Amino acid sequence: MKIKFILLACVVVFGFLGGCQGKLTKNFYKHSCPRAESIVQQIVSQRVLADPRVPARLLRMHFHDCFVRGCDGSILLNSTATNTAEKDALINLNLASFDVIDQIKAALENACPGTVSCADILALATRDAVSLQYKRSLWVVLTGRRDGRVSTAAEPPLNIPTPVMNFTQLKQNFARKGLSKQDLIVLSGGHTIGLGHCFLFRSRLYNFTGRGDQDPSLDPTYAASLKTQCPNNNNDFTSFVEMDPKSSTNFDTLYYSNLLQNKGLFTSDAALLTNNDAKNAVKQLLKTERFFNAFANSMERMGVIGVLTGSAGEIRKKCWLVNS
Ligand code: HEM
Ligand SMILES: *[C@@H]1O[C@H](CO)[C@@H](O)[C@H](O)[C@H]1NC(C)=O
Ligand SMILES: *[C@@H]1O[C@H](CO)[C@@H](O)[C@H](O)[C@H]1NC(C)=O
Ligand SMILES: *[C@@H]1O[C@H](CO)[C@@H](O)[C@H](O)[C@H]1NC(C)=O
Repeated sequence: MKIKFILLACVVVFGFLGGCQGKLTKNFYKHSCPRAESIVQQIVSQRVLADPRVPARLLRMHFHDCFVRGCDGSILLNSTATNTAEKDALINLNLASFDVIDQIKAALENACPGTVSCADILALATRDAVSLQYKRSLWVVLTGRRDGRVSTAAEPPLNIPTPVMNFTQLKQNFARKGLSKQDLIVLSGGHTIGLGHCFLFRSRLYNFTGRGDQDPSLDPTYAASLKTQCPNNNNDFTSFVEMDPKSSTNFDTLYYSNLLQNKGLFTSDAALLTNNDAKNAVKQLLKTERFFNAFANSMERMGVIGVLTGSAGEIRKKCWLVNS
């Protein structure tokens, strides 16, 4: 009776049955695995306390998952003898903390076998990791995602933005995922936590136009400090810096105040100042409450990109392997 009513409501409201597919809900596992969300939160909290790099790593992993085939856990799959997975694409080689997801999955398989998707685990764990510092959830994570069965190394470079993109390219990249210019500006604020490797911005310091020059849009004092951390050595792929100097484990608005002082680390960060509307939007985000609200909105939009629901995909038994 209840189901009939919901279907009817879908037909009336959306005009077609498909209108009710692709929908995630709040607390999808309420009946099938009541402790699912608290198990995720508990393990995440242990792992973040043991390693403050975990929130940034999960946030970037979730972003890279959602931008390739939607938020379907495709980033979590390992390569096999016959397939090179997303994980092994160049742009994903520095992703880490997959073991956190695997630990949560093991606990959930123990509590409720075959029930909670890896895609949902990643979305929930990311939210909980970034929120831990505040002792409250920074955004809402709807659940009911299912896991994809396809992961191909060729796809990340076609879908994930690169650190040398200009504003137009970034805006187009986000638009292809159904995200707006505002989402781009707000989600770039994710760079308030985490690390950036020198090789990804070294040319801004030492050889911007091929004449041994520095990027004129980069604050000279900041550039000098980056140079001390990043030697002029094109064979060095391991050095890195905090993206938000001295605040890389604090989720705050310093990303935007640094940016406005021309201290954005990547060309793609600096690009947000090259558009007048975007620059004004950046100024608005200096206010903590505004940033947090906007970030919540944009994360909720990012977290539902191309999700698999209903009977699409599967619930993987192991996050790194498709079911046989
Ligand atoms: C707007 C386009 C974006 C570009 C071009 C970009 C690019 C990058 C690059 C190049 C790095 C450094 C990776 C490394 O050195 O290993 C990075 C790190 C990071 N990005 Fe982005 N990113 C973008 C958007 C986002 C979004 C939307 C989020 C999440 C909301 C995000 C979250 C992060 C985080 C948390 C890190 C640090 C990872 C760590 O410490 O391991 N980024 N990003
Ligand atoms: C899957 O890949 C990750 C790194 O991407 C690695 O740490 C892990 O050991 C792999 N898992 C298995 C079971 O091969
Ligand atoms: C952005 O980069 C693209 C590709 O390199 C280029 O065609 C375009 O002119 C650039 N746009 C701006 C505004 O610089
Ligand atoms: C700077 O870049 C140019 C053009 O890419 C290259 O020919 C030159 O060797 C580079 N110089 C240094 C010092 O890396």
